[in-house]
Amino acid sequence: MDLPRTIIEPFRIHAVEPIRITTREERAAALEAAGWNLFAIHAEDVLIDLLTDSGTGAMSRDQWAAVQHGDESYAGSPSWYAFLEAVQELFPFPHVIPTHQGRAAEKILFSVLGGPDKVIPNNTHFDTTRANVEFTGAEAVDLVIPEGGDPQAIHPFKGNMDVARLDSILEACGDRVPVVFVTVTNNSGGGQPVSLENLRQVRAVCDRHGVPLFLDACRFAENAWFIKTREPGQTERSVVDIVHDMAALADGMTMSAKKDGLANIGGWLAMRDSALAEQCRTMLILTEGFPTYGGLAGRDLEAIAQGLREVVDEDYLRYRIRSTAYLGEALDEAGVPVVKPYGGHAVYLDARALLPHVPPLAYPGQALAIALYLEGGIRGCEIGTVMFGRHPDGTETPAAMDLVRLAIPRRTYTQSHIDYVIEVVIAVAARAAELRGYRIADEPPALRHFTARFEPIS
Ligand code: F0G
Repeated sequence: MDLPRTIIEPFRIHAVEPIRITTREERAAALEAAGWNLFAIHAEDVLIDLLTDSGTGAMSRDQWAAVQHGDESYAGSPSWYAFLEAVQELFPFPHVIPTHQGRAAEKILFSVLGGPDKVIPNNTHFDTTRANVEFTGAEAVDLVIPEGGDPQAIHPFKGNMDVARLDSILEACGDRVPVVFVTVTNNSGGGQPVSLENLRQVRAVCDRHGVPLFLDACRFAENAWFIKTREPGQTERSVVDIVHDMAALADGMTMSAKKDGLANIGGWLAMRDSALAEQCRTMLILTEGFPTYGGLAGRDLEAIAQGLREVVDEDYLRYRIRSTAYLGEALDEAGVPVVKPYGGHAVYLDARALLPHVPPLAYPGQALAIALYLEGGIRGCEIGTVMFGRHPDGTETPAAMDLVRLAIPRRTYTQSHIDYVIEVVIAVAARAAELRGYRIADEPPALRHFTARFEPIS
């Protein structure tokens, strides 16, 4: 038997990018100029950028080589066929509609299926998904299991859908529900996976009510790895077989290739239903492009095709999930409250628990994210009351949780970068009682977290 060893990065570095070390004074000035919104900070002023794992990963040598094969023909490019084949090898849906990113797929699908009076259930809608649903006048309902809303609850599949609640919603307003969504992994709930067993139960409920099931599959490979390592009976199966099972249970999917496509841009919408696909393709032509390139260049299609082959590599996934847990475990051991179990793409700090003296409407997640940047140039992302607290009717209530997400770009940072992150988070946590809340000085009507300006509460 092999002895247990450190799980290492299964690659070596081929091209490097410099990162810039700033002073605390420079960071304080950058924060003030940005209205204390980390989305408004210049990326060059960030040392370790954990704002998102979306589009920020490192492409492989083989992806860069594939980029050189990009064929920019308007219609029927060989790059389109390479992309189509790679998508269908994993997700054998007959209709694949390429988009420039995940939210473009959402926009197209919900402009066809949404509308006033419609209700869209999901385990937890990601912010762009919710916004695209609500923009059509439809209602977005989150139905994650109760453990999914408790940062400290231990459950192997905290992203699972509450099947009983789904059943009663479909019972009460079945004809108003055009589609049920399951997000794998459940990003807004902490990057938590959904089990095959749960997908089967959701499928059975959808079948009983005659409603299609779609996956928001951005992190499908990470979800499949969790199924392999946590779900009874799955350990000996390949990740690809598990992905096939996930696909077989669904009628369609939206996808952001910026996550488990291992690409810097791209996405798609896929489905079985030909009539729905035709309506979506019409929208695609209006908003994205011709159906064989959508919103993408031929070279992007090639990079995604190669990325999809690499993302299901089991050495890669073992390293990916282990390296995320490495960060989570170190913070947990130091007493920093983190969402458990650790997510696939990110570790979520529980800002409400760390800053009990900052009420939710003074945005403890924002306060913690700002402190991490000021202390060590680390950029995380508030996932809490700033992101979810404002409702379409103008009212504001605390979000279910106030978290700071430290999202880990794929194949980008080394273990010593992560060791540095651990030191900075621990240093900030040690003086948590000194951190103050923020108020919003200025905000747009929707998706305010991207552009709002804040002011420290003195
Ligand atoms: N669905 C989920 C679960 C996501 O996490 C995202 C993006 C999208 C849809 C939209 O995809 O960005 O390609 O338009 N999440 C990124 C994040 C932005 O930081 O978590 P997109």
